[in-house]
Amino acid sequence: MERGSWDDIGRCEDGIPVWPAVFSDALLSSPERHVVGILSKLARMLKSEAHSEIFGVYRTIGEPVAEGPMSVVYKASGRAADDGAVAIKILKDSAARVARRLSDQPGRQWEGERAVELNHRNVVRTLEFGCESGAFYVVMEYIDGPSLAWLIHKQSPLLHGRRLSIIRQIAHGLAYIHRTGLIHRDICPKNVLVDGTGHAKLIDFGVAVSQAEKLKDTGRRTGRPSYMAPELIRDNVFDVRTDIYALGVAMYEISTGARPLAGADRYETMRLHLYSAPTPPAHVNDSVPLALSNIIVRCLAKDPEQRFQTVDELLQELPEAAF
Ligand SMILES: Nc1ncnc2c1ncn2[C@@H]1O[C@H](COP(=O)(O)OP(=O)(O)OP(=O)(O)O)[C@@H](O)[C@H]1O
Ligand SMILES: [Mg+2]
Repeated sequence: MERGSWDDIGRCEDGIPVWPAVFSDALLSSPERHVVGILSKLARMLKSEAHSEIFGVYRTIGEPVAEGPMSVVYKASGRAADDGAVAIKILKDSAARVARRLSDQPGRQWEGERAVELNHRNVVRTLEFGCESGAFYVVMEYIDGPSLAWLIHKQSPLLHGRRLSIIRQIAHGLAYIHRTGLIHRDICPKNVLVDGTGHAKLIDFGVAVSQAEKLKDTGRRTGRPSYMAPELIRDNVFDVRTDIYALGVAMYEISTGARPLAGADRYETMRLHLYSAPTPPAHVNDSVPLALSNIIVRCLAKDPEQRFQTVDELLQELPEAAF
């Protein structure tokens, strides 16, 4: 379930009508409408209470805000009434099995353990993690805003004049993640949430690994075909430059509204990433600053040696202009 506008968030409709249609509002007196309002509110609270689940000291609120094959994410309330909302991500199926395996292995970390150590303004703050009746969960600050993927898809006005700012924020978040020794491995606009003020945060450490863990990792290739660097597709090798390639794809989408090297299916997409050169973003959209277009093309170099070697290097070259 991809979230929509800020208006949708936290208000997943629960299907309870405000009042049976036969009691049209217009037929009711003002005090009656007041009572109807209170009863409706009560019904909603009871429904959401009946649905809520407890994780540690947190109670989920209403329906999930998002659900995919790997996890279900709820808005939840904290310890005290004034604690503010949190998000709880509960791992499903294969993600839960991976978490169990990693938590049993010395020197390995599952998503919650990794994420809780991070503290940066462009990275979602993870508050705690746990395992309740066999369910692995991660508690985070609740980010009140849609994903960058949704903003790009809708060509939201929030992007106007803010594209470079959002790119810079994601780059700062990623540079920080790399400084901690982690490789994110799932950089894409879906994994960036943006609040109403344009503040962007990276989320989702589900497949991140530390440089140290990487050496022990003989697992399967992981990533979304549209964001996979050629060395990952060809040899299943990755390092920070693989994240920089994925960042290049995300920057391309932010700048042009379209993905570079999009094939008809995942195999064609991977082939294009292996062998084809992307059209420079400035040729797709002539309002893209040339300096930015060149940076994106360099991130998308087939040979990792030709890319920026660190995100900090890239940040130094990002133009200041508003775009
Ligand atoms: N801290 C948060 N605050 C608000 N919403 C969140 C938060 N974390 C996650 N979400 C919502 O849950 C969705 C899925 O989160 P996440 O990407 O971590 O899970 P996932 O299982 O890896 O999903 P996917 O496979 O779609 O990437 C996000 O796109 C977002 O809508
Ligand atoms: Mg995700």
